[in-house]
Parts: sequence; C-alpha cells; structure tokens
Amino acid sequence: MTYTAEELLEAARSVAENAYAPYSRFRVGAVAVGEDGNLYQGVNVENAAYPSGVCAEASAISAAATAGVRKIEAVAVACIDATREDQTYPCGQCRQRLNEFRVSTVIVPGRDGGPRVHSFDELLPFGFRLGD
Ligand code: THU
Repeated sequence: MTYTAEELLEAARSVAENAYAPYSRFRVGAVAVGEDGNLYQGVNVENAAYPSGVCAEASAISAAATAGVRKIEAVAVACIDATREDQTYPCGQCRQRLNEFRVSTVIVPGRDGGPRVHSFDELLPFGFRLGD
C-alpha cells in the first residue's frame, strides 16, 4: 500500500467535512484503498426519512465499486463533531459491506488521535461471504 495509516486517517478526517449529517450532527468520513491503489472517498449522507441515510463506509465502497474495484485493501474511518472522536468503528452493517469487498485492514482513530490499525478479521470473525 502506498499510503501510511496516518495519511489514511487524515484523509478520512478531511473528507468528513463534506458529510451531510444535519440530523445526527455526527459527520463521518471514510477512505478506501482499492486493489488498483487508488483512494475512494465517502461520507455519511443522511435523509429526512432516517433509514434512507447511508454510512460513510457504504459511500466509499460505492465509489470504489463504481470504478471497478472488487477488492479493498484498507479502509480508514473517522468522525468529527462527536464528543469522543476515538473509536469510530464501522457499524455492523458496514462490516458486512466491507466483508463483501474482502477488506484486509481497518483504521480508526485511537485515544491519542493517531491511527489504530486492525485486521478485518478482528472486526468480523467468521463473516458470511460467498466464495470467490
Ligand atoms: N455512521 C457512519 O457513517 N458509519 C458508521 O459506521 C456508523 C454510523 C453514520 C450514520 C449516521 O449518519 C450517523 O453516523 C449517526 O449514526
């Protein structure tokens, strides 16, 4: 991978500025590194009909898939505006979405503000996925 964990976390924080979160005021950014080495960005996009909103990870996955990516090497997720910025872990549904694209590494902010790097298996052991 051509990006460091610090760079990916910073990119996630930066794109979170563009989140559309007028309801929760919890702005989340995600960046995914595709198998092509490119960076795909996403933010949470909320909706007045609450369940119609999408998570930042889902947005980033959609951007990557649209570009033809079928394997995501790493994803970094960060939020702003929250009282606690540490431990912005992907929700359960996003873990399943990430599993579909065989994500290897997940990066979230640690308590010191720096990156905390996890293997995807730590977040979703025994995940359900069809065979390649
Ligand atoms: N959210 C994300 O974007 N990613 C997650 O993994 C957790 C939650 C968003 C959804 C909603 O817009 C806001 O955060 C509050 O739940």
